[in-house]
Amino acid sequence: MELKQFPKEFLFGGAIAANQAEGAWNVDGKGPSTTDVSNGIVGPVDDNVIEGKFYPSHEAIDFYHRYKEDIALMAEMGLQCFRTSIAWPRIFPNGDEEQPNEKGLQFYDDLFDELLKHGMEPVVTLSHYETPLHLANTYGGWDNRELIGFFTKFSEVVFKRYKNKVKYWMTFNEINNLHTIPFATGAFRPERKENPVQALYQAAHHQFVASALATKLCKEIIPDAKMGAMLSLSVPYPNTCHPDDVFETYQLRRRSLFFADVQIRGEYPRYIKRVWKEHNVEVHMEQGDEEIIRQYPVDYLGFSYYRSTTHKAGTKIIGNTGGIIGTPNPYLESTPWGWQIDPKGLRYVCNELYDRYQIPLFIVENGIGMDEGPNDNGKIIDDERIRYLDLHLTEILEAIEDGVEMMGYTWWGPIDIVSAGTGEMKKRYGFIYVDKDNDGNGTLDRKKKKSFDHYKEVIASRGKNLFE
Ligand code: BG6
Repeated sequence: MELKQFPKEFLFGGAIAANQAEGAWNVDGKGPSTTDVSNGIVGPVDDNVIEGKFYPSHEAIDFYHRYKEDIALMAEMGLQCFRTSIAWPRIFPNGDEEQPNEKGLQFYDDLFDELLKHGMEPVVTLSHYETPLHLANTYGGWDNRELIGFFTKFSEVVFKRYKNKVKYWMTFNEINNLHTIPFATGAFRPERKENPVQALYQAAHHQFVASALATKLCKEIIPDAKMGAMLSLSVPYPNTCHPDDVFETYQLRRRSLFFADVQIRGEYPRYIKRVWKEHNVEVHMEQGDEEIIRQYPVDYLGFSYYRSTTHKAGTKIIGNTGGIIGTPNPYLESTPWGWQIDPKGLRYVCNELYDRYQIPLFIVENGIGMDEGPNDNGKIIDDERIRYLDLHLTEILEAIEDGVEMMGYTWWGPIDIVSAGTGEMKKRYGFIYVDKDNDGNGTLDRKKKKSFDHYKEVIASRGKNLFE
């Protein structure tokens, strides 16, 4: 029988990241993060904050001061879980201090209490594009082994502090974006490295060890917690059935899945040795590294999925926050930002991942960025978003019926936030509108869009209304 409803254990939610929502970038002792020196992480970044320059993350949507109002709206929609990140430099402003910043810790205590009060399960990413800037500038970023120790300390502090409040964790957001967005993901500047590919895989190794150590601590401190990996897994298809397109696309996909292979299977796959050889990479590992990675794999695979694209053999591989930017697929429509809408691709990816790993999947980001605002009647009619949501949820139901174990779904940006990639406010994902423009003007007032009530109905009916 066809599944027409989501299983009761499936969590419906929403997801944001601290740096795209909180603002208050230097309030209550917070230090600058790698994102605080950018106007969109895909573009150039400054070495330090330049006085007087506009940076979108500095105020963002002021979630830091308005989270109660925002969470009340999330609760009204019926969200069962809420994904956010802990801004690492709010807890350790430089990253290498001995003692954490109490005011930063208190903020997340209050935030998690507020979520729990409304019956929402917090889902927390430890590092979402917000490494303390000092660790980038003084230590050179994640290819420096010292960052493992700093991250482990940060993890231990937050696990101990929030052990009664947070049960779902993830270590590094979109860890595979070390390839395409290295500064945000790994806090290193490839153009300043002798061999950028070496730096990338060395940074990855350090993050694997750090992730395994965090998983170990998490299990010890919060035995009933679940730790996940998090990858960007929008999918590239071969542009044609030419074997060169097919095989190169396979290799490109494996370039991403490599990160899950290590974090889930607990060992380096054989194919990576050849890649390293071809790029003169020698990853430095210390005794015990491989053992810790082997002993502490993750419990589940969290991933983002926004779109698909196609790959032609021999074309330069570039990407942004949505994944690989390939050759457009003539069978698909695109958003104004050129992200191609492919709901069936999500079913494909869920099956691909479950076939490969047989562990639960959690879709922790999916959504559509549109430029929209109130019409003459003051209403925000976002039918495109409703359509995108419905089509993707329908394919998730199909994937569940295909046999995939699915933990839940957190819509990306249930409230408008700053775009990570471009720094724009006008690239809006929300069911809730925030009155602010790209230059930082606006009242910051919140307003429900048409999709607000729609998502509410989806959750209340557990997807039944998708078929009415
Ligand atoms: C993901 C990131 O890559 O894509 C988010 O984890 C980001 O932080 C999201 O916001 C959408 O990308 P963008 O550039 O449209 O904000």
